[in-house]
Amino acid sequence: MTEPIVRYQNIQKSFGDVEVLKGIDLDIKPAEKVAVIGPSGSGKTTIIRLLMTLEEPTSGDIIVDGKNLWKMEKNGKMVQANEKHLSSVRSDIGMVFQHFNLFPHMTILENCMTALVNVKKIDKQEAKQRSAEMLEKVGLGEKLEMYPSQLSGGQKQRVAMARALVMRPKVMLFDEVTSALDPELVGEVLEVIRDIAKEGEMAMVLVTHEMDFALDIADKVLFLDNGVIAEQGTPQEVIANPENERLQNFLQRFNN
Ligand SMILES: Nc1ncnc2c1ncn2[C@@H]1O[C@H](COP(=O)(O)OP(=O)(O)OP(=O)(O)O)[C@@H](O)[C@H]1O
Ligand SMILES: [Mg+2]
Repeated sequence: MTEPIVRYQNIQKSFGDVEVLKGIDLDIKPAEKVAVIGPSGSGKTTIIRLLMTLEEPTSGDIIVDGKNLWKMEKNGKMVQANEKHLSSVRSDIGMVFQHFNLFPHMTILENCMTALVNVKKIDKQEAKQRSAEMLEKVGLGEKLEMYPSQLSGGQKQRVAMARALVMRPKVMLFDEVTSALDPELVGEVLEVIRDIAKEGEMAMVLVTHEMDFALDIADKVLFLDNGVIAEQGTPQEVIANPENERLQNFLQRFNN
């Protein structure tokens, strides 16, 4: 059995009195593609923000490549992780957001390079070359010196993707990355994700409402409902032949 690259162990998350995740257990294998579907407010974004260390779990553990993300050992005891521990474990994780969060005052190439140079401390020339190659790969090789404001939404999202990929994470998180785009731009972004997925090595967690896309690329689909994984299985089981009634109702909305 291969060890999971990510393991959620009884993860619970509350905001104030509201319990948003109610005991999530989940293993993600290296290279596995996991699609997360479910109604608004079911906790999809929260699940991936915990892994990106943008939120802290209320209880439970998240293990990344054998290391406890939120806890570390000190004098033989497990204590709350400090920033150094968090950033070291998080370096295996990359994320693309719904709103691209590019730096407006930097060119596309600079947007892509900045974390390589400033976080990974990679030589500037090499960072430049790696970034240019990655931008080429997402179809933006001609636009390196442009600024985000000069790009379409789909192009901006592809820059955001290149910026995350160039860090060579072991796990990439995508949170509804096409839902802020005009419909005619969705395809080009999904195409890039599909290409990356087919390359293989990286695990991916994709929160998505694109059911055909999930059916096509996912190894495993999770249906999140009210803070629990209400259903999980292959895309065929979960999307094409759902048994759970709430899942059937949820999927109805995507049939037209
Ligand atoms: N920082 C926060 N403070 C308080 N409540 C929050 C916070 N973040 C999320 N929530 C609440 O947690 C619940 C789950 O939110 P989450 O964003 O994970 O849902 P989601 O499944 O991603 O929904 P959507 O499909 O609308 O993006 C919601 O009820 C939301 O209002
Ligand atoms: Mg969300």
